[in-house]
Amino acid sequence: MTKIINGKEMAQNLRNSLKKEIAELKNKFNAVPGLAVVQVGDVAASSVYVKAKTRNAKEVGIEVIDHHLNDSITESELLNLINKLNNQKNVNGILVQLPLPKHINEQNILDSINPEKDADGFHPLNVGKLSIASKNDESLLIPCTPYGCLLMLKEVGVELSGKNAVVVGRSNIVGKPMAQLLIKESCTVTIAHSKTKNLTEVCKKADILVAAVGKAEMINGDCIKNGAIVIDVGINRIKKQVNGEIKNKLVGDVNYIQAEKIASAITPVPGGVGPMTIACLLRNTTIAFKNSNNN
Ligand code: GUN
Repeated sequence: MTKIINGKEMAQNLRNSLKKEIAELKNKFNAVPGLAVVQVGDVAASSVYVKAKTRNAKEVGIEVIDHHLNDSITESELLNLINKLNNQKNVNGILVQLPLPKHINEQNILDSINPEKDADGFHPLNVGKLSIASKNDESLLIPCTPYGCLLMLKEVGVELSGKNAVVVGRSNIVGKPMAQLLIKESCTVTIAHSKTKNLTEVCKKADILVAAVGKAEMINGDCIKNGAIVIDVGINRIKKQVNGEIKNKLVGDVNYIQAEKIASAITPVPGGVGPMTIACLLRNTTIAFKNSNNN
C-alpha cells in the first residue's frame, strides 16, 4: 500500500506545537514573535499565499505586521521599508512575498533583509550557513518549502542515509536548499533540471524524488523507481476535462495517478507540501524570536 503523506495534518500538528511554545515564550518574555508580511502588487497566487500565511500566523499567536503595497512602489521605497522593519523591535521575521514586479531587483531586496529576521532563509548569509552548519543546529533559518519536504520525508520513517535522492529543479528557493538538506542527511544527491539529458533515466534511479519544476504533471510513471518516495512541490492551476466539463484543477509536477501506483510514499497536491511550507515559515519566525532573546 502506498503511503499518502498528509501535509495538511502534519502542518496542523506543527502549528499546534508552535502555538504551545509561543504561549510559553509569551509568559517568559512578555512578548510574542512578530512577522512582517510584505506584498507588492496583486498577483493572484501571491494574494492566496499571503492570506493563508497571515491566517496561520495569527492562529499560533504570532503578531502579523501587514504591508500591502501598490506595484508602482520604487525599489528604493521598498528598501526604505525593509530598513525600517529591520530596526522595528516587534518584528522578528520579515517575509517579502515573491515574485516582485519586474522593475524591482529581487536579490537587492532579499540582500537588504537583516539576516537575523530572514523568515524565508533566502539571505546569502543564511544560504551559506545552511551549507556549512551541522544538521542539529536549531538556530538556522532554513527555506520553508525544502524544510517542509524534509519533515515529510522523515515522516515516512525510512533511513535516509545512503539513499539516492534526485531533486528536479535548481531554484534558489527550493531545488538548491533541498539538495543541501539531503546532503546533510547523507543522501547521494543529484540535481536535475531543464538541460539534464535522459531525465527519465536519472529520475528512475531515485529512491527519493523531489519534483520542483513548475510544470504540470511533467514527472510521469516512467520516471519513478518502484518503491520510491515522491515529494511533489508543484502547485499548478490547469483546466481539465472532468465528465465532459472543463474544470479548473490544482495539480502538482507529478502525474499523481501514475506515480501513486509505483511509489511507496507520495505527497498529494493540494494538501501536501503547501501547508508544510507555511507551517515552516511560522517555525522560522519563532526561531528568529528565540535567537533574538538568546533562548
Ligand atoms: N513565492 C513562492 N514561494 C515563496 C516562498 O516560499 N517565500 C516567498 N517569500 N515568496 C514565495
